[in-house]
Amino acid sequence: MVQNPSLRSLDFFKRPEQTKNWSQIKVPANWQTEGFDKYIFTDVEYPIPPNPPFVPKDYNPVGSYQREFTIDPSWIEKQIFIHLGAVNSFYYLWINGQYIGFSKDSKTPTEFDITKALKTGRNTVSLQVFRFSDATYLEGQDMWKLSGIERSVYLIARPVFHLFDFKVTSTLDAAYKDGLLSLTVDFNKTPGQKEQGSLKAELLDASGKVIYQSQQPIKTDKRLSFQTKISNVKSWNAEHPNLYQLKITHLNQKGLKVESIVHSLGFRTVEVKKGLFLVNGVPIKIKGVNRHEFNMNTAKVITEADMLLDIRRMKEMNINAVRTSHYPNAERWYALCDKYGLYVVDEANIECDGMSLTPLETLSDKPIWKKAYLDRVQRMWERDKNFTCIVTWSLGNESGFGENLMACYTWLKANDDSRPVQYEAAKDERYSDIFCPMYKSITVMENYVKTWRNRPLIQCEYAHMMGNSGGNLKDDWDLIYKYPQLQGGFVWDFCDQTFAIKDKKGNKIWGFGRDMGTVGLTSDTSFCADGLLAADRSFHPQAYELQKVYQNVGFEAKDLGKYIFRITNRFDFTNLANYKLNWLIKGDGRIVAQGNVEELSLLPGEAKDVGLNVPSFMPKRGVVYYISLEFQNRKATALLPAGFVIAKEQFMLPIQADVEMAMEKEIAPLALKNDNGKLLFSGKGFAVGFNQKTGLLESYRVADKELIQQALEPHFWRAATDNDIGNSLQIRSQVWQNAFKTAQLKGLEYTKISASAYKVETVYSLPSVDANVNINYEVKGDGDVVVDYQLKTGKGKYPEPQRIGMRVILNPSYDQVSWLGRGPYDNYIDRNYAAAVDLYKMKANALFYPYPRAQESAYRTDVSWAALQNPAGTGLMAIGKTALSIGVLHFDMKNLDYDRDAKENIHGGSMVDENLIWWNIDFQQMGVGGDNSWGAQTHPQYRLPYKDYRYSFTLRPVFSKEILTERAKD
Ligand code: GAL
Repeated sequence: MVQNPSLRSLDFFKRPEQTKNWSQIKVPANWQTEGFDKYIFTDVEYPIPPNPPFVPKDYNPVGSYQREFTIDPSWIEKQIFIHLGAVNSFYYLWINGQYIGFSKDSKTPTEFDITKALKTGRNTVSLQVFRFSDATYLEGQDMWKLSGIERSVYLIARPVFHLFDFKVTSTLDAAYKDGLLSLTVDFNKTPGQKEQGSLKAELLDASGKVIYQSQQPIKTDKRLSFQTKISNVKSWNAEHPNLYQLKITHLNQKGLKVESIVHSLGFRTVEVKKGLFLVNGVPIKIKGVNRHEFNMNTAKVITEADMLLDIRRMKEMNINAVRTSHYPNAERWYALCDKYGLYVVDEANIECDGMSLTPLETLSDKPIWKKAYLDRVQRMWERDKNFTCIVTWSLGNESGFGENLMACYTWLKANDDSRPVQYEAAKDERYSDIFCPMYKSITVMENYVKTWRNRPLIQCEYAHMMGNSGGNLKDDWDLIYKYPQLQGGFVWDFCDQTFAIKDKKGNKIWGFGRDMGTVGLTSDTSFCADGLLAADRSFHPQAYELQKVYQNVGFEAKDLGKYIFRITNRFDFTNLANYKLNWLIKGDGRIVAQGNVEELSLLPGEAKDVGLNVPSFMPKRGVVYYISLEFQNRKATALLPAGFVIAKEQFMLPIQADVEMAMEKEIAPLALKNDNGKLLFSGKGFAVGFNQKTGLLESYRVADKELIQQALEPHFWRAATDNDIGNSLQIRSQVWQNAFKTAQLKGLEYTKISASAYKVETVYSLPSVDANVNINYEVKGDGDVVVDYQLKTGKGKYPEPQRIGMRVILNPSYDQVSWLGRGPYDNYIDRNYAAAVDLYKMKANALFYPYPRAQESAYRTDVSWAALQNPAGTGLMAIGKTALSIGVLHFDMKNLDYDRDAKENIHGGSMVDENLIWWNIDFQQMGVGGDNSWGAQTHPQYRLPYKDYRYSFTLRPVFSKEILTERAKD
């Protein structure tokens, strides 16, 4: 490996002896993951100074490869090809010192006929790979820009006269019932006298039975065609990927087999008709995702096991479509999508977004680049044309628009009338059969479908999953389910492109940006971490939300009192009878009744009111009951086990215990001591202390142990999420960060209400935001402290706080968290549709989710009460008068704060337990948003505008061995 082309060997391919001491590298492998050269990550910007078609002379590493291989004598009469699956970005090839050729387009294979250069026995293959070339200008995708041989290299031996290519289309007839098979087979040359034989085409069904066969003589035609109709074919779709096997056999004059090619295919028709995208005549919803090829250790080099895991995760999340953003994937990917059922948008390896930062703007209208554009599209099509799963071709990504793309569209349409073509930036309807914008808001989507259009809207990218994101997915999908011409979209994106590394202290972290080193070009942002999944394919919290909005059953309460629900089958091709409907009623986390519905046959798209047979039960005082409905796989499917929950919903039941005459509870007396600037209230087993200087509740002793490390105080801030940074929230709302630090106590009064209760009233002014906070406490003889919080805002215009609430810091032993509310995973007011209400219990450090870049996390909404206890079971609970939201960290929240000038990245994985438990007891925190991470704000209904707020909760001591659900009741 050398730094630039001028240093490269110019004759190693001729004189292999010089390579003896060279380093070894695996093939396929990226240089960078193997310790060669440097990682570069850029989003829009090119990794080189843009000056097309030139590339830097000083830094353009060149890797020279060489290896020996043997050719078996039995191959000598064959025609031998070398196949290079994907080489990034540009290479020259020599065999035995003889120059063979070169290739660009790092994501489609090249095959060379190397027969003439070979000899039997030992041969050498030499390759010189350049990191940058003019091709770099068409491969400016937002991703790790790495280099090397990324897919396998192998040899293929073929008879001299052989099957060169075939094209098969397998669609359905106009009634979408019978299959139409049309096959053309090309030989590599016109057959000569000796080469006359025959060609057999067979179609086998899933059981291996031949259902069609036809044989044609090979005479003088280079191309042979077959056509047939398969009646009552089992059609292919993503839900039921029925495949047939096509077998093409070349027989010689004696009728002996020369070669045969086996290819799996499905019958399906894809069309855009009357403004709808139809698969087999059905206007499906695209529950899509964008996927890069990526592995947390080997980067762009992935295995079949990686692909299978990805497909499994997609099935788990109810994803039915994938865009191969932004280049043709490994061939195996499509075969697997055929097999397991995913609709694929196959995208050409074209992106020149980096030009948008230059006066040239784009290369798409520069004639000199036209051939390169066409070459990329044609090679994608030639390689992939026979895959059933590909339902749409994409011309590329973010390349502006112009003649070159028009030419690509025209070429594709001329060569393939069986699939639509799409391109995001095609302004003219003529050059994109689908309207496929990116990151469009709900309003734009809704406006689009106000009138009936020629093209459906399927966003090629939406919902940017960077960091703590995924807000308002439910709103997006409520809309999409409502309008026929809104046919879904592809989330950005499937998986983080981060690396499994360790920080200096040995904590496992996800490496991004400059973590991986720099050549002065590396972007230090975490834009490579915008997946639904972490790079190890574990779910980020937002993945559950997507799973739920993508689920294929809709639930609506028709009459909760009678347990009647409207069930909508949102599958496009599957009867709900394949799934079992279970229901479960819980109150205070305990099951009170459960059952299932044995038979529920519902055709795709149909809805039905279903009444559940729920036995009556005696509700308990103060308990809120929820019914959960879920559909489970009756039988295991290819990738999901039997019992897997494919859809679920939860409803609060209108059931309440009869109100008993509340017996006036006898409350123990409360003592007050004014102790050295402290108001000390005490009763049996507890003591509560207020600081008279600050007015704050700063001590809470339960069973003789102090719980509080830092006083309970108003808190308005959150550690910036990636979306927050994108819309400058923390800059805009900066005044709130220390709004309470700079507050002044305006008044503190305490009054005795009775022998067992005192009132403490405090007023603060918050000059930085022109507001007052009044906090009133009622301290009772049984240890309860009822906190009444009011924010009173002024008349001025101020930015929004990120949360309305209070936080207290407890001693570290109070690390057992229980709550009755939404969980188990992180949830926010705009991302809590999937998180069910239940009784949860976990360690304080388990609430926090370590996003690659450290940021806000560890939040739970709709919390009736939460308790923090020590191992002995004593502690404190907060019971909301109305639902609370809570946040619990085992470290100081400031560790998560974003620091623009930090010298190093700060990672979620580096957060370790500190000697404290941080507890937010909130009215609410604003939502996380998620339309994009470069300006879009959290939707208004999930923000906390500058206005007055009031909420209240009770702090209650918890003594050991108490049942929390009982303790939480008055
Ligand atoms: C899109 C682009 C993607 C990615 C995303 C931001 O504009 O097509 O490749 O950059 O933005 O993460």
